[in-house]
Amino acid sequence: MTSHSYDVLVIGSGAAGLTLALRLARARPELRLAVLSKSRLSEGSTLYAQGGISAVMGPPDSLESHVQDTLRAGAGLCDEAVVRFTVARAAESIRWLIDQGVPFSRERRADGREAFHLTREGGHSHRRVLHAADATGRALEQTLEAQIRAQDNVDLFERHIAVDLITGAKLGLAENRCLGAYVLDRESRRVETFSTRVTVLATGGASKVYLYTSNPDVATGDGIAMAWRAGCRVANMEFIQFHPTCLYHPAAKSFLISEAVRGEGGRLLLPDGSPFMHRFDERGELAPRDIVARAIDHEMKRLGVDHVLLDISHRPPAFVRSHFPNIYKRCLEFGYDMTREPLPVVPAAHYTCGGVMTDLRARTDLAGLYAVGETAHTGLHGANRMASNSLLECLVFAAAAAEDIQATLDNQPAPPAPPPWDESRVTDSDEEVVVAHNWDELRRFMWDYVGIVRSDKRLERAQRRVELLKMEIDEYYGNFRVTNDLLELRNLVTVAELIIRSARSRKESRGLHYSLDYPRPDDSAPPRNTVLTPANFAA
Ligand code: FAD
Ligand code: SIN
Repeated sequence: MTSHSYDVLVIGSGAAGLTLALRLARARPELRLAVLSKSRLSEGSTLYAQGGISAVMGPPDSLESHVQDTLRAGAGLCDEAVVRFTVARAAESIRWLIDQGVPFSRERRADGREAFHLTREGGHSHRRVLHAADATGRALEQTLEAQIRAQDNVDLFERHIAVDLITGAKLGLAENRCLGAYVLDRESRRVETFSTRVTVLATGGASKVYLYTSNPDVATGDGIAMAWRAGCRVANMEFIQFHPTCLYHPAAKSFLISEAVRGEGGRLLLPDGSPFMHRFDERGELAPRDIVARAIDHEMKRLGVDHVLLDISHRPPAFVRSHFPNIYKRCLEFGYDMTREPLPVVPAAHYTCGGVMTDLRARTDLAGLYAVGETAHTGLHGANRMASNSLLECLVFAAAAAEDIQATLDNQPAPPAPPPWDESRVTDSDEEVVVAHNWDELRRFMWDYVGIVRSDKRLERAQRRVELLKMEIDEYYGNFRVTNDLLELRNLVTVAELIIRSARSRKESRGLHYSLDYPRPDDSAPPRNTVLTPANFAA
């Protein structure tokens, strides 16, 4: 049994995890940090981010305008203090990224000055999205990866998946705090112990719980499920964002067509070529995502078609190729030339607005445990995240967490040595097909019953199915040696249950949660967050 001891364990190596690790490791070179990644280091949603990062870079834009746009998109559920905190720190986060070497796109303005090119996306009333062409996430992730690999006091563990957090309560200690994690090395297939003074969840979102998603395979909500099992509250899980435009092609698994394409003039059309967004919202193609995704879903169902079209072929070909070089190239590989013809598009699950509840320092309910990035619920996004506010949240809260850990780590006690992982009562699985089948079933009924448009009846059906699956998976987990697929499935079923319970408890439509039975917001009381507490949760 291998056991490791570190000052800080960061679980996840996307924008949130790497920013936190870099800032902390540089500020306190005497600390020893471990960063885990369950696949290769760069794999995660960050790598695939296209549009960019929102930040106010100067007039005519203003911090107040960014705040108000975020609040409006969040449909009454943003925490205004958190929105102001985040927006105010955006420019510093961008400067930090520039210092690390992120090559943001620039342009020459009419007055001859060179400046960052700012693009526009849904819900933003100004151009305020910094980007590196149409592959912002790749530029960011690769830059941070190069920096972290050069950092002497950080050990990187690729293909290591955290299984569960180790807590004082689980060990029967008087003080309940996070003491580290059990981690499966996917190569040796052994579970190792990481014993740490502070642990950070930076594990990303959970959109793989849906059959169709823009997210990479690692987005299975592991951090949310682990925090939940460790006793932390989880909020607003019903607010799953569906991105309106993923390429519709059997081989184009989860390929996103950035909202920036609409920001630069792209029009949504029905298969007969007629526009429709003006019938749903006066902001047309640049209405917030919930409205655009629902409008597309509505039109697809009304007409019985399997996609709509996104057309930017009216812009000059050179403009399209220079602004969207990666999207252009990828679409060509699938047989579509976006400079000459419209692209077939459909909505897909994209972003988890809810997550582990945190405060302004990214602390969770459990002492010694922080959560940053998409896995956290900070209160920034409310009922609907505005485009390009997610990478911003990763950067701002990673910096806040790093500062807090730096200031408080010396007061954290050294953890007691946890007991090794107990494999004495399990054997190798005799029927891997159970995992594959349950994985498929879960994602399919979540898409059909808990998708863009919900109803009481559909949610009840989903609840019955998830309970059955949970029982089967728990039994399987209790009897067989853990594998990556089993661990992810176990986490996905937990997250699915949290989404369904949250959706069932919201008797209104608000932001990303739309119910046929309650088609309007409930204005009879102030809007409220859906907060689930493990201790109150009937098994
Ligand atoms: P991720 O980048 O997803 O990283 C998660 C990390 O956690 C990975 O390293 C993974 O291996 C690791 N991990 C997970 N579970 C475990 C475990 N159990 N053990 C060990 N490691 C684990 N947002 C914007 O603001 N602007 C955009 O333009 C934008 N475009 C997007 C385009 C696409 C296609 C997608 C999918 C998302 C986009 N988003 C965008 C959203 C944004 O990219 C994500 O919200 C953000 O990158 C999340 O970063 P993160 O660090 O929280 O997680
Ligand atoms: C996109 O480029 O459309 C994605 C932006 C985001 O999710 O914030």
